Amino acid sequence: MPLPDTLLPRLAAIVGEHHVLTDPDVRAGYETDWTRRYHGSTPAVVRPASTQEVAAVVGLCRELGVAIVPQGGNTGLVGGGVPRNRELVLSLRRLDRVSDFDTGAGEVTVGAGVALATLQKTVRAQSWNFGVDLASRDSATIGGMVATNAGGIRVLRYGGMRHQLLGIEAVLSSGAIVRRLPGLLKDNSGYDLPQLLAGSEGTLAVITAARLKLVPQQPQRAVALLAVDDMTAALRAVSAVRRALSSLEAAEVFFLEGLELVCRRAGLPPPFSVSHPCYLLLECAGQADESASLANVLAGAQGIRDSAMATGRPGCDRLWAYRERHTEAISAEGIPHKLDVTLPLARLPEFEQRVRGAIAAADPAARPILFGHAGDGNLHVNILGLAPDDERPDDAVLRLVAELGGSISAEHGIGIAKMPWLHLTRSAADREAMRAIKSALDPSGILNPGVVIPSG
Ligand code: MLT
Ligand code: ZN
Repeated sequence: MPLPDTLLPRLAAIVGEHHVLTDPDVRAGYETDWTRRYHGSTPAVVRPASTQEVAAVVGLCRELGVAIVPQGGNTGLVGGGVPRNRELVLSLRRLDRVSDFDTGAGEVTVGAGVALATLQKTVRAQSWNFGVDLASRDSATIGGMVATNAGGIRVLRYGGMRHQLLGIEAVLSSGAIVRRLPGLLKDNSGYDLPQLLAGSEGTLAVITAARLKLVPQQPQRAVALLAVDDMTAALRAVSAVRRALSSLEAAEVFFLEGLELVCRRAGLPPPFSVSHPCYLLLECAGQADESASLANVLAGAQGIRDSAMATGRPGCDRLWAYRERHTEAISAEGIPHKLDVTLPLARLPEFEQRVRGAIAAADPAARPILFGHAGDGNLHVNILGLAPDDERPDDAVLRLVAELGGSISAEHGIGIAKMPWLHLTRSAADREAMRAIKSALDPSGILNPGVVIPSG
């Protein structure tokens, strides 16, 4: 549908003409997602500076029947944050205020456009920390992280984004503002709108701010990188540490295929003198040094072939690099198909053993690289060597996930990438409920149409 001629001047009247970006070179950074697999074009990127401006933009789009794709740091991996069909991109990055920091209670109000690293820096200065952390911390924004219910490396200890959420401010598709930022730990008055919007991927409202709870900073870190026999040995070690040490913050797994790639692309030396099939990275953090306790527990674990331990930032970061640099190393090799799946922990070893075979049977040219959050049962199955539209391996992986009782999306969301497979793990009744919620909150279908559930 052609855009109304009045759209751009009226947008400029709301946000100022410098914040309606139409230059193709400037728009380009908003039109392609981080993976480079998903892209489209937009007539303009609109950059409001306040919740009131967001409300006015959304109200105008509703009036003119113009669809919107809300966007934060554009670090999404499922194509849900870039235009697909000439939608307007609504960039929330200028909503970058951190306010009402209650240093006694450990709560803070954060604008949608604040980068995770900025929030971390702000709250650490007061001996607090934020429970969610992930590798794209410098670019990922809090609004996008709430909208996608981002997970990351510390879900095991603190939960994902929805677990940090005490309140929300959002603009409904009518342009009305819902503001629930009370700073109350308990509040049982009616439907839990913040939780409904968490993980809704911009399809139900535009999140403009969140009230977040903080966790005490744990300054003493101990990181162990273990070479282990296999996934079963890795999970046994995770379970032993979980039961013994409440300070366990992260339990991450990767395999030789990924380690070799990371070492080559990032120029890192191999962590051990010989190669091993599977690697487990554990981090404990507390008020006191936990390294001796961690080493003690691991000494009794079976299936550990080699280990390296670090305390202090440089040593911990050095070990973390083998895990955290997977995403960029894979991306440097090509444009992967990225699957982000979760399995019941007891089925994770079987999945890991079968998935490479299932991928090879679907396309012998496929090159799978697995890594992820072992403690959460969450594996990132990245597949290189595929044509963009060859989804046979994706299909094979997601059907195996469904067969083993898992979910087709652990933490990246559905976006457009996983939508064709939603029926594998969400029943017809479940999808009907989602459609009903969508049409109640966005009756004109202007908010991120075609994401999560089909539009219309
Ligand atoms: C990660 O755990 O590193 C992220 O989810 C990114 C990715 O899957 O590539
Ligand atoms: Zn992840």
